[in-house]
Amino acid sequence: MSESFDLAAFPADFAWGTATSAYQIEGAVAEDGRAPSIWDTFSHTPGRIDNDDHGDVACDHYHRWPEDIDLMRRLGTDAYRMSVAWPRVMPAGDGPVNAAGLDFYDRLVDALLDAGITPNVTLYHWDLPQALQDRGGWTARDTAEHLADYASAVAARLGDRVTRWATLNEPLCSGWIGHLEGRMAPGLTDLTAAVHASYHLLLAHGLATRAIRAVAPGAQVGLVTNHSTVEAASTRPEDIAAATRMDGHTNRWWLDPVYGRGFPADMRELYGVELPERPGDLDTIAAPLDWHGLNYYFPATVTDDPQGPVPYAREVRLPDVPRTGMDWQIDAGGLEALLLRLTDDYGVRQLYVTENGSAFPDNVSPDGAVHDPDRARYLEQHVSACARAVRKGVPLAGYYAWSLLDNFEWAYGYDKRFGLVHVDYATQTRTLKTSGLRYAEIIRAHRESH
Ligand code: NOJ
Repeated sequence: MSESFDLAAFPADFAWGTATSAYQIEGAVAEDGRAPSIWDTFSHTPGRIDNDDHGDVACDHYHRWPEDIDLMRRLGTDAYRMSVAWPRVMPAGDGPVNAAGLDFYDRLVDALLDAGITPNVTLYHWDLPQALQDRGGWTARDTAEHLADYASAVAARLGDRVTRWATLNEPLCSGWIGHLEGRMAPGLTDLTAAVHASYHLLLAHGLATRAIRAVAPGAQVGLVTNHSTVEAASTRPEDIAAATRMDGHTNRWWLDPVYGRGFPADMRELYGVELPERPGDLDTIAAPLDWHGLNYYFPATVTDDPQGPVPYAREVRLPDVPRTGMDWQIDAGGLEALLLRLTDDYGVRQLYVTENGSAFPDNVSPDGAVHDPDRARYLEQHVSACARAVRKGVPLAGYYAWSLLDNFEWAYGYDKRFGLVHVDYATQTRTLKTSGLRYAEIIRAHRESH
């Protein structure tokens, strides 16, 4: 381990985990009363997903979860970030709870705790029940109320054992990518729908926070958002203004209202869409949180693009920089900078890196191993960035590597592999990659440093 690898920076009780989400790994889409979600619809729409892949079977985690918990143990992790599928628990989106759906998570949580692994449960990782989409989805205010009811049902059942909860995962992706760029479910390209969806997602977050606390008083409730550092491609004033707009679109729009500053005025003006505001909403959205989850993958460098889509800022592709198999630029400094920003600028008092990782095209070698030095390096660089942030005062309580398993990478299907564990989809064979072994070493070395 290099000298700059400062594991002693992390507190003794630092949580080391992996992360997944329901639709990306579970499969079993028609079992035990689960109804379709917008991702079933989207992935079964020809041309939406690379190779027309879908999540019908995925990693078959719904049946193979004991093996997957064993893998977590082999990694030496003591935390696991997972999501609950709304369409399993409340198949119609509202109304009756499907007991069989909750039973699955009940068993899973018990088994995790038996294995010494603390679950961190996300309620909404993009799998909106299709029945609610048919009634307007996130463009409708009712959807926010329904999320709170669903959250309440899950927290009432699991809240005696689960304390760490996240309301939403990456509302930016649901809001902007799902409703403005059309590359994710429900696949719309409509600015008004996108702005309204973003508003209702944040409202849902606030309502769910309240609902969870009402039924599970010890709950530690947080929100998981994804961010990028944003830099101007040049010192031209137009590029600098473009960077401010992109920062507003990617970062401030999602953080300012949650931390009590309301929706940023410059972005409201830029979007030019009236918000579906009602008195009291902003206070609901800004309910004080117990923790914040940061998902970080890459930085952005942007140039002015007056003819392009909102926010009229286009990412430029820097030459000669390292990239992952997603073509995403690798820059661990961005993670450190965002952790510091959340702490210093937004006053976050407890942080987790709830996702961070890299996709590379992995293969099982003839020796039976999966050699993925690029992923191991990415992991080391980003864990080092976390250590630097902690030394600078960031209250970082844990790190969840994305992902435990190779899985359904949304519009990219199964070709993009983020796992510390390789999945052979034809046989469902799991193989720990060398990056997974490296993660296990890091975790062990941190424990020994205390
Ligand atoms: C963010 C999302 O939360 C997760 O579902 C996705 O697979 C990873 N990033 C990688 O793109």
